[in-house]
Amino acid sequence: MNIHLTKSQIGLDGVPAAETALSHVDGERGELVIAGEHVAELARRSSFEGVTARLWTAATGRPLGEADVRKGLGAARERSFARLADLLPATRGLSVVDGFRAAIAGLRAENGLDHEATIVGAFPVIAGALVRRASGEAPVAPDPNTSHAADTLSMLRGRKPEPREVAALDAYFVTVCDHGMNASTFTTRVVASTHADLFAAVTAGYCALTGPLHGGAPEPVLEMLDAIGTRERIKPWVDDALSRGERLMGFGHRVYRVRDPRADVLKAAIERLAADGADLPFAGEVEAYIRRALRQKNPDRPLETNVEFFTAILLDALAIPRQAFTPIFAVARAAGWTAHAREQQRTGRLIRPSSCYVGPMPG
Ligand code: ACO
Repeated sequence: MNIHLTKSQIGLDGVPAAETALSHVDGERGELVIAGEHVAELARRSSFEGVTARLWTAATGRPLGEADVRKGLGAARERSFARLADLLPATRGLSVVDGFRAAIAGLRAENGLDHEATIVGAFPVIAGALVRRASGEAPVAPDPNTSHAADTLSMLRGRKPEPREVAALDAYFVTVCDHGMNASTFTTRVVASTHADLFAAVTAGYCALTGPLHGGAPEPVLEMLDAIGTRERIKPWVDDALSRGERLMGFGHRVYRVRDPRADVLKAAIERLAADGADLPFAGEVEAYIRRALRQKNPDRPLETNVEFFTAILLDALAIPRQAFTPIFAVARAAGWTAHAREQQRTGRLIRPSSCYVGPMPG
């Protein structure tokens, strides 16, 4: 007899798929702990290199400091820049998001560098080269002596960033570097669980990230803000979209039943960055109206602002082109993916669930 699954069973809601020492999401209380610290505290006190050191230490059991990671990533950025001529041909004719997928699939082990560093170091070099190629410009060489956030901005934009811009991107990187068993991390762990290498696992993770229900949401968030355009149009636009059954990008989450704690961390980073840049009051009004409208439409299902709403505004205020938003998310999340892949291989088992057959039986 066929057995049908419920909606939550189909989405694996609340099913633990791994033991991890890397991060913890409490969806009822709206808390995110990364390597033993609350995300807001980490964003205040730690650099991307610092939190990456904590993740890699927790995953491998091999103690690493912020300075080790900074040095390893600097060297990795230089090595991948030297390999661009091998990596870029596979991306010809593709958009930045798709070209990024093709280029990272060509990464391989580098002598003397841990695979983790090779991957995380290569990501901003590839993103920068693809963004600049899209506007007919040559890639900018990395500076191994600067921070990952500062170098990412230089390689994307071709000019040295201001310290407040570096601080904003660094806060973003720290905030989104890891987030429990999200879809791309789960994908990464499934591939790592077969003992495929880190390059294969992380490439698969990136593919899962690109969908609009996951890391592909920020570009549509900006498109929505553009389409709304003015304060007077907020209500009619949102009401109309909801009446057509559309999902509003940057809202709702599988795990959080209250506001995503990362949204406030990013909102604070935007406020520090942009007295002039982002139109926060307008975005704030859109956010407030959408939250009200979603509460009215789905009174039993709390749908709050998620990280992607403020990601869109932050990256836009940093003059990062929209088509680079998902690869830039991946630059940060690669720290978490590599840590999860290592942890999975060290402490996990082959992930191989079952399915419920609902097709016809023979005869
Ligand atoms: N706008 C309008 N309605 C929504 C939204 C939304 N953003 N999110 C959920 N709903 C509605 C659903 O249509 C559904 O209604 P129904 O029962 O009448 O069909 C109800 O709320 C329950 O939704 P679920 O299907 O239980 O939500 P799920 O847990 O599967 O989805 C998700 C979570 C994918 C994030 C969803 O909220 C969504 O699509 N949001 C918009 C895309 C987005 O912002 N993605 C980024 C997520 S954060 C990240 O991954 C980094």
